[in-house]
Amino acid sequence: MPFTIAIDGPAASGKGTIARAIAQHFGFHHLDTGLLYRATGAKGGDPVEAARALRPIDMERDDLRSAEAGQAASRVAAIPEVREALVDFQRRFAMQEPGAVLDGRDIGTVICPEAALKLYVVASDEVRAARRAAELGADPARMLAELRERDARDSARATAPLRPADDAVLLDTSALSIEDAVARAIAEVARVQAG
Ligand code: CDP
Repeated sequence: MPFTIAIDGPAASGKGTIARAIAQHFGFHHLDTGLLYRATGAKGGDPVEAARALRPIDMERDDLRSAEAGQAASRVAAIPEVREALVDFQRRFAMQEPGAVLDGRDIGTVICPEAALKLYVVASDEVRAARRAAELGADPARMLAELRERDARDSARATAPLRPADDAVLLDTSALSIEDAVARAIAEVARVQAG
């Protein structure tokens, strides 16, 4: 059985950094599922058609990390048929040997409810806004408003809303360095692997 790790949490909580580091440490595959929604939103036109026709090359656009692409992603991500179109790809990705790490919003609740480990990564709104502002070279106050708007939409939607799975392990990175947050996540994986 491949070893699947689900990492969910609100925008800029640190889940992507943690997911990449875990994958590298354990030699697992990594999928940033947010990119699927960002690429769908960025394509324009009918979002359901865009999601159904999504190709790996669509994920290589260099404008997908912007705040605007995040907002567009969050809008298309509320459409049930868009989410439906992306399920099979994510589930197939999760089944790769020797293991896979997927980060997003609904990995532990919908995509991989049987994951060996589910992490729910959070951080205070201010810390998240400061991190994303530094990443994008943007204004922290604008980022704070942007993240809150996106989290509210992601949490309120009817299909696959942002929420921790019942058996998720909570990791609050507000007061942690990247190294410490990664070390804690790796310790959780090792704990589960040890059985
Ligand atoms: O990097 P950040 O946390 O800001 O965002 P992201 O993970 O790239 O996700 C962008 C948007 O895609 C989110 O605000 C969600 O609306 C949507 N998303 C989702 O609905 N389900 C996922 N599994 C991943 C992302």
